[in-house]
Amino acid sequence: MMNDTAEQSIDLEFLKTLTILYVEDDPEIRDLLSHFLARRVKQLDMAVNGQEGLDAFNLNRYDVVVTDIKMPVMDGLEMAEHIKKSPNHEVPIIVITAYSDRDYLLRAIDLGIDRYVTKPIDADMLLAAIYKSARARFNQLEVARAREQVLDTLQQTVNVLSRAIEMRDPYTDGHQKRVSLLAAAIAEEMGLPEERVTGIRVGGMIHDIGKIHIPTEILSKPGKLNPLEFDIIKTHSEAGSDILKETTFPWPIEQMVRQHHEKLDGSGYPGGLKGEDILLEARIIAVADVIEAMSSHRPYRPALGMDAALEEIRRHRGTLYDENVVDSCLRVIEKHGSHFFET
Ligand SMILES: [Fe+2]
Ligand SMILES: [Fe+2]
Repeated sequence: MMNDTAEQSIDLEFLKTLTILYVEDDPEIRDLLSHFLARRVKQLDMAVNGQEGLDAFNLNRYDVVVTDIKMPVMDGLEMAEHIKKSPNHEVPIIVITAYSDRDYLLRAIDLGIDRYVTKPIDADMLLAAIYKSARARFNQLEVARAREQVLDTLQQTVNVLSRAIEMRDPYTDGHQKRVSLLAAAIAEEMGLPEERVTGIRVGGMIHDIGKIHIPTEILSKPGKLNPLEFDIIKTHSEAGSDILKETTFPWPIEQMVRQHHEKLDGSGYPGGLKGEDILLEARIIAVADVIEAMSSHRPYRPALGMDAALEEIRRHRGTLYDENVVDSCLRVIEKHGSHFFET
Protein backbone atom coordinates (compact mmCIF):
# COMPACT_ATOMS: atom_id res chain seq x y z
CA MET A 1 0.00 0.00 0.00
CA MET A 2 1.36 3.37 -0.96
CA ASN A 3 0.95 6.81 0.44
CA ASP A 4 1.20 9.53 -2.17
CA THR A 5 3.19 12.38 -0.76
CA ALA A 6 4.05 14.18 -3.92
CA GLU A 7 2.08 15.09 -6.96
CA GLN A 8 3.49 13.76 -10.19
CA SER A 9 2.69 14.95 -13.65
CA ILE A 10 -0.92 14.00 -14.24
CA ASP A 11 -2.45 13.34 -17.62
CA LEU A 12 -5.62 15.41 -17.34
CA GLU A 13 -7.07 13.89 -20.50
CA PHE A 14 -6.70 10.43 -19.02
CA LEU A 15 -8.45 11.58 -15.84
CA LYS A 16 -11.36 12.75 -17.98
CA THR A 17 -11.98 9.13 -19.05
CA LEU A 18 -12.42 7.80 -15.50
CA THR A 19 -15.56 6.80 -13.64
CA ILE A 20 -15.04 7.13 -9.91
CA LEU A 21 -17.00 5.99 -6.88
CA TYR A 22 -16.51 8.21 -3.85
CA VAL A 23 -17.82 7.00 -0.47
CA GLU A 24 -17.87 9.50 2.41
CA ASP A 25 -20.31 10.04 5.30
CA ASP A 26 -19.25 13.59 6.28
CA PRO A 27 -21.42 15.93 4.18
CA GLU A 28 -18.99 18.82 4.44
CA ILE A 29 -15.94 16.91 3.18
CA ARG A 30 -18.09 15.15 0.61
CA ASP A 31 -19.38 18.39 -0.87
CA LEU A 32 -15.96 19.93 -0.97
CA LEU A 33 -14.19 16.98 -2.58
CA SER A 34 -16.97 16.00 -4.92
CA HIS A 35 -17.05 19.53 -6.25
CA PHE A 36 -13.31 19.34 -6.87
CA LEU A 37 -13.31 15.82 -8.39
CA ALA A 38 -16.47 16.01 -10.50
CA ARG A 39 -14.92 18.63 -12.78
CA ARG A 40 -11.82 16.53 -13.38
CA VAL A 41 -13.17 13.06 -14.12
CA LYS A 42 -15.74 11.70 -16.55
CA GLN A 43 -18.21 10.62 -13.91
CA LEU A 44 -18.28 10.80 -10.14
CA ASP A 45 -20.80 8.74 -8.19
CA MET A 46 -21.20 9.30 -4.49
CA ALA A 47 -22.37 7.17 -1.59
CA VAL A 48 -22.77 8.06 2.08
CA ASN A 49 -21.74 4.74 3.65
CA GLY A 50 -20.16 1.40 2.80
CA GLN A 51 -23.46 -0.34 2.11
CA GLU A 52 -24.57 2.32 -0.36
CA GLY A 53 -21.11 2.26 -1.88
CA LEU A 54 -21.26 -1.50 -2.32
CA ASP A 55 -24.72 -1.31 -3.92
CA ALA A 56 -23.42 1.27 -6.41
CA PHE A 57 -20.28 -0.84 -7.04
CA ASN A 58 -22.36 -3.89 -7.87
CA LEU A 59 -24.46 -1.98 -10.39
CA ASN A 60 -21.76 -0.01 -12.22
CA ARG A 61 -18.24 -0.27 -13.59
CA TYR A 62 -15.75 1.95 -11.79
CA ASP A 63 -12.13 2.63 -12.58
CA VAL A 64 -11.27 3.61 -9.00
CA VAL A 65 -13.08 3.50 -5.64
CA VAL A 66 -12.23 6.19 -3.07
CA THR A 67 -13.54 5.62 0.43
CA ASP A 68 -13.46 7.01 3.93
CA ILE A 69 -12.95 4.38 6.61
CA LYS A 70 -15.17 5.19 9.59
CA MET A 71 -18.78 5.38 8.48
CA PRO A 72 -22.16 4.27 9.82
CA VAL A 73 -24.02 1.14 8.58
CA MET A 74 -20.93 -0.33 6.91
CA ASP A 75 -17.40 1.01 7.23
CA GLY A 76 -15.05 1.53 4.29
CA LEU A 77 -12.92 -1.54 4.98
CA GLU A 78 -15.88 -3.88 5.22
CA MET A 79 -17.01 -2.53 1.85
CA ALA A 80 -13.47 -3.06 0.50
CA GLU A 81 -13.56 -6.63 1.79
CA HIS A 82 -16.75 -7.29 -0.21
CA ILE A 83 -15.27 -5.65 -3.30
CA LYS A 84 -12.11 -7.77 -3.05
CA LYS A 85 -14.30 -10.90 -3.14
CA SER A 86 -16.37 -9.73 -6.12
CA PRO A 87 -15.72 -10.50 -9.81
CA ASN A 88 -14.39 -6.93 -10.22
CA HIS A 89 -11.95 -7.34 -7.34
CA GLU A 90 -9.07 -5.79 -9.24
CA VAL A 91 -10.55 -2.30 -9.20
CA PRO A 92 -8.10 -0.06 -7.30
CA ILE A 93 -9.33 1.14 -3.89
CA ILE A 94 -7.96 4.26 -2.22
CA VAL A 95 -8.77 4.80 1.46
CA ILE A 96 -8.87 8.15 3.18
CA THR A 97 -7.58 7.85 6.70
CA ALA A 98 -6.56 9.81 9.78
CA TYR A 99 -3.20 9.16 11.46
CA SER A 100 -5.05 7.77 14.48
CA ASP A 101 -6.49 4.98 12.35
CA ARG A 102 -3.49 2.68 12.82
CA ASP A 103 -5.55 -0.47 13.38
CA TYR A 104 -7.68 0.30 10.39
CA LEU A 105 -4.58 0.90 8.34
CA LEU A 106 -3.22 -2.54 9.24
CA ARG A 107 -6.52 -4.09 8.20
CA ALA A 108 -6.32 -2.13 4.94
CA ILE A 109 -2.86 -3.56 4.22
CA ASP A 110 -4.24 -7.06 4.88
CA LEU A 111 -7.03 -6.41 2.41
CA GLY A 112 -4.62 -5.38 -0.33
CA ILE A 113 -5.82 -1.76 -0.52
CA ASP A 114 -3.86 0.02 -3.25
CA ARG A 115 -3.23 3.46 -1.77
CA TYR A 116 -4.17 5.68 1.12
CA VAL A 117 -4.47 9.42 1.51
CA THR A 118 -4.24 10.97 4.96
CA LYS A 119 -6.56 13.52 6.54
CA PRO A 120 -6.84 16.46 6.34
CA ILE A 121 -7.29 15.73 2.67
CA ASP A 122 -5.20 17.57 0.17
CA ALA A 123 -7.39 17.44 -2.93
CA ASP A 124 -4.44 17.52 -5.35
CA MET A 125 -2.83 14.62 -3.53
CA LEU A 126 -6.05 12.64 -3.77
CA LEU A 127 -6.25 13.40 -7.47
CA ALA A 128 -2.65 12.20 -7.90
CA ALA A 129 -3.48 8.97 -6.06
CA ILE A 130 -6.55 8.39 -8.25
CA TYR A 131 -4.47 9.04 -11.35
CA LYS A 132 -1.65 6.70 -10.37
CA SER A 133 -3.97 3.86 -9.33
CA ALA A 134 -6.07 4.12 -12.48
CA ARG A 135 -2.98 4.38 -14.70
CA ALA A 136 -1.37 1.31 -13.14
CA ARG A 137 -4.58 -0.70 -13.60
CA PHE A 138 -4.96 0.56 -17.18
CA ASN A 139 -1.39 -0.51 -18.02
CA GLN A 140 -2.01 -3.92 -16.47
CA LEU A 141 -5.11 -4.41 -18.63
CA GLU A 142 -3.24 -3.25 -21.73
CA VAL A 143 -0.50 -5.83 -21.15
CA ALA A 144 -3.11 -8.55 -20.63
CA ARG A 145 -4.92 -7.52 -23.82
CA ALA A 146 -1.71 -7.48 -25.85
CA ARG A 147 -0.79 -10.93 -24.55
CA GLU A 148 -4.21 -12.28 -25.46
CA GLN A 149 -3.87 -10.87 -28.95
CA VAL A 150 -0.47 -12.50 -29.42
CA LEU A 151 -1.88 -15.83 -28.21
CA ASP A 152 -4.84 -15.46 -30.59
CA THR A 153 -2.53 -14.84 -33.52
CA LEU A 154 -0.37 -17.77 -32.47
CA GLN A 155 -3.43 -20.01 -32.25
CA GLN A 156 -4.54 -18.96 -35.75
CA THR A 157 -1.07 -19.59 -37.17
CA VAL A 158 -0.98 -23.03 -35.57
CA ASN A 159 -4.45 -23.83 -36.95
CA VAL A 160 -3.42 -22.83 -40.47
CA LEU A 161 -0.27 -24.90 -40.18
CA SER A 162 -2.27 -27.84 -38.92
CA ARG A 163 -4.66 -27.67 -41.87
CA ALA A 164 -1.75 -27.32 -44.30
CA ILE A 165 -0.17 -30.52 -42.98
CA GLU A 166 -3.43 -32.42 -43.27
CA MET A 167 -4.08 -31.27 -46.83
CA ARG A 168 -1.28 -33.62 -47.89
CA ASP A 169 -2.87 -36.42 -45.90
CA PRO A 170 -6.57 -36.49 -46.74
CA TYR A 171 -7.10 -39.75 -44.86
CA THR A 172 -6.52 -38.09 -41.54
CA ASP A 173 -8.38 -34.83 -42.10
CA GLY A 174 -9.05 -33.15 -38.76
CA HIS A 175 -7.00 -35.75 -36.84
CA GLN A 176 -4.72 -33.24 -35.12
CA LYS A 177 -7.60 -30.98 -34.11
CA ARG A 178 -9.44 -33.89 -32.52
CA VAL A 179 -6.27 -35.12 -30.78
CA SER A 180 -5.72 -31.57 -29.51
CA LEU A 181 -9.28 -31.42 -28.14
CA LEU A 182 -9.04 -34.74 -26.32
CA ALA A 183 -5.49 -34.16 -25.05
CA ALA A 184 -6.52 -30.80 -23.57
CA ALA A 185 -9.61 -32.37 -21.98
CA ILE A 186 -7.42 -35.09 -20.41
CA ALA A 187 -4.95 -32.48 -19.14
CA GLU A 188 -7.80 -30.50 -17.59
CA GLU A 189 -9.20 -33.65 -16.01
CA MET A 190 -5.74 -34.29 -14.52
CA GLY A 191 -5.91 -30.84 -12.93
CA LEU A 192 -2.94 -29.36 -14.82
CA PRO A 193 -2.68 -25.56 -14.73
CA GLU A 194 -4.43 -23.64 -17.52
CA GLU A 195 -1.14 -22.48 -19.01
CA ARG A 196 0.07 -26.08 -19.42
CA VAL A 197 -3.27 -27.17 -20.87
CA THR A 198 -2.93 -24.43 -23.50
CA GLY A 199 0.52 -25.77 -24.42
CA ILE A 200 -0.91 -29.28 -24.83
CA ARG A 201 -3.70 -27.89 -27.02
CA VAL A 202 -1.11 -26.23 -29.27
CA GLY A 203 1.18 -29.28 -29.27
CA GLY A 204 -1.74 -31.55 -30.18
CA MET A 205 -2.66 -29.34 -33.14
CA ILE A 206 0.72 -29.86 -34.81
CA HIS A 207 1.95 -33.13 -33.29
CA ASP A 208 2.17 -34.73 -36.76
CA ILE A 209 3.81 -31.71 -38.40
CA GLY A 210 6.71 -33.98 -39.44
CA LYS A 211 4.39 -35.76 -41.89
CA ILE A 212 5.11 -32.91 -44.27
CA HIS A 213 8.40 -34.74 -44.78
CA ILE A 214 6.73 -38.02 -45.80
CA PRO A 215 6.00 -38.69 -49.52
CA THR A 216 2.28 -38.40 -50.25
CA GLU A 217 2.25 -41.82 -51.95
CA ILE A 218 3.02 -43.37 -48.58
CA LEU A 219 0.69 -41.09 -46.61
CA SER A 220 -2.23 -41.78 -48.90
CA LYS A 221 -1.52 -45.41 -49.67
CA PRO A 222 -4.66 -47.45 -49.12
CA GLY A 223 -4.19 -50.65 -47.16
CA LYS A 224 -1.31 -51.90 -45.07
CA LEU A 225 2.15 -50.38 -45.28
CA ASN A 226 5.17 -52.62 -45.82
CA PRO A 227 7.94 -52.51 -43.16
CA LEU A 228 10.06 -50.08 -45.17
CA GLU A 229 7.15 -47.71 -45.68
CA PHE A 230 6.32 -47.93 -42.01
CA ASP A 231 9.92 -47.04 -41.13
CA ILE A 232 9.58 -43.98 -43.31
CA ILE A 233 6.32 -43.00 -41.57
CA LYS A 234 8.10 -43.35 -38.25
CA THR A 235 10.56 -40.60 -39.17
CA HIS A 236 7.78 -38.01 -38.78
CA SER A 237 8.38 -37.48 -35.04
CA GLU A 238 12.02 -36.57 -35.54
CA ALA A 239 11.28 -34.56 -38.68
CA GLY A 240 8.67 -32.63 -36.71
CA SER A 241 11.11 -31.86 -33.93
CA ASP A 242 13.67 -30.70 -36.53
CA ILE A 243 11.12 -28.31 -38.01
CA LEU A 244 10.44 -26.86 -34.55
CA LYS A 245 14.09 -26.68 -33.40
CA GLU A 246 14.40 -22.91 -33.67
CA THR A 247 11.05 -22.09 -32.07
CA THR A 248 10.74 -20.45 -28.66
CA PHE A 249 7.17 -21.31 -27.71
CA PRO A 250 6.41 -20.78 -24.02
CA TRP A 251 5.69 -24.54 -23.91
CA PRO A 252 7.88 -27.56 -24.77
CA ILE A 253 6.19 -28.10 -28.16
CA GLU A 254 9.28 -29.54 -29.81
CA GLN A 255 9.57 -32.32 -27.21
CA MET A 256 5.84 -33.04 -27.36
CA VAL A 257 6.13 -33.53 -31.12
CA ARG A 258 9.34 -35.55 -30.84
CA GLN A 259 8.04 -37.85 -28.10
CA HIS A 260 4.41 -38.44 -29.05
CA HIS A 261 5.11 -42.03 -30.21
CA GLU A 262 7.29 -42.98 -27.25
CA LYS A 263 5.88 -45.78 -25.06
CA LEU A 264 6.21 -46.19 -21.31
CA ASP A 265 8.13 -49.52 -21.61
CA GLY A 266 10.69 -48.08 -24.04
CA SER A 267 9.21 -49.78 -27.13
CA GLY A 268 8.28 -46.50 -28.83
CA TYR A 269 10.18 -44.22 -31.16
CA PRO A 270 12.36 -42.32 -31.95
CA GLY A 271 14.26 -42.39 -28.62
CA GLY A 272 12.96 -45.56 -26.97
CA LEU A 273 12.42 -43.40 -23.88
CA LYS A 274 10.90 -44.98 -20.78
CA GLY A 275 8.44 -43.90 -18.09
CA GLU A 276 8.91 -40.40 -16.77
CA ASP A 277 11.75 -39.71 -19.18
CA ILE A 278 8.88 -39.08 -21.57
CA LEU A 279 7.44 -35.62 -21.12
CA LEU A 280 3.99 -35.72 -19.44
CA GLU A 281 2.56 -33.63 -22.29
CA ALA A 282 3.78 -36.23 -24.79
CA ARG A 283 2.30 -39.08 -22.71
CA ILE A 284 -1.05 -37.27 -22.82
CA ILE A 285 -0.93 -36.61 -26.56
CA ALA A 286 0.07 -40.27 -27.13
CA VAL A 287 -3.12 -41.53 -25.47
CA ALA A 288 -5.32 -38.99 -27.26
CA ASP A 289 -3.61 -39.97 -30.54
CA VAL A 290 -4.39 -43.68 -30.12
CA ILE A 291 -8.00 -43.01 -29.14
CA GLU A 292 -8.57 -40.70 -32.11
CA ALA A 293 -6.82 -42.95 -34.63
CA MET A 294 -8.71 -46.09 -33.58
CA SER A 295 -12.13 -44.51 -33.26
CA SER A 296 -12.02 -42.71 -36.63
CA HIS A 297 -12.81 -44.05 -40.05
CA ARG A 298 -10.04 -44.56 -42.57
CA PRO A 299 -10.82 -45.17 -46.23
CA TYR A 300 -8.96 -48.49 -46.08
CA ARG A 301 -10.70 -49.73 -42.93
CA PRO A 302 -13.86 -48.94 -40.98
CA ALA A 303 -13.53 -47.26 -37.61
CA LEU A 304 -12.59 -49.75 -34.94
CA GLY A 305 -14.80 -47.75 -32.60
CA MET A 306 -14.45 -45.97 -29.29
CA ASP A 307 -14.96 -49.16 -27.28
CA ALA A 308 -12.03 -50.87 -28.99
CA ALA A 309 -9.92 -47.73 -28.52
CA LEU A 310 -10.71 -47.59 -24.80
CA GLU A 311 -10.00 -51.32 -24.49
CA GLU A 312 -6.57 -50.71 -26.09
CA ILE A 313 -5.53 -48.06 -23.54
CA ARG A 314 -7.02 -50.07 -20.65
CA ARG A 315 -5.11 -53.21 -21.67
CA HIS A 316 -1.80 -51.35 -21.93
CA ARG A 317 -2.32 -49.08 -18.93
CA GLY A 318 1.01 -48.82 -17.13
CA THR A 319 2.95 -50.73 -19.80
CA LEU A 320 2.59 -48.62 -22.94
CA TYR A 321 0.48 -45.75 -21.62
CA ASP A 322 0.73 -43.68 -18.46
CA GLU A 323 -1.73 -44.89 -15.78
CA ASN A 324 -2.91 -41.43 -14.71
CA VAL A 325 -3.36 -40.32 -18.28
CA VAL A 326 -5.35 -43.45 -19.12
CA ASP A 327 -7.57 -43.06 -16.04
CA SER A 328 -8.22 -39.40 -16.83
CA CYS A 329 -8.98 -40.22 -20.45
CA LEU A 330 -11.48 -42.89 -19.38
CA ARG A 331 -13.17 -40.35 -17.10
CA VAL A 332 -13.31 -37.75 -19.88
CA ILE A 333 -14.97 -40.21 -22.29
CA GLU A 334 -17.31 -41.39 -19.55
CA LYS A 335 -18.39 -37.78 -18.94
CA HIS A 336 -18.79 -36.79 -22.58
CA GLY A 337 -19.96 -40.11 -23.95
CA SER A 338 -18.29 -42.19 -26.64
CA HIS A 339 -19.18 -39.55 -29.24
CA PHE A 340 -16.59 -37.17 -27.82
CA PHE A 341 -15.23 -36.18 -31.21
CA GLU A 342 -18.62 -35.53 -32.74
CA THR A 343 -19.76 -33.00 -30.16
FE1 LIG B 1 2.19 -39.24 -35.09
FE1 LIG C 1 -1.16 -38.42 -34.73
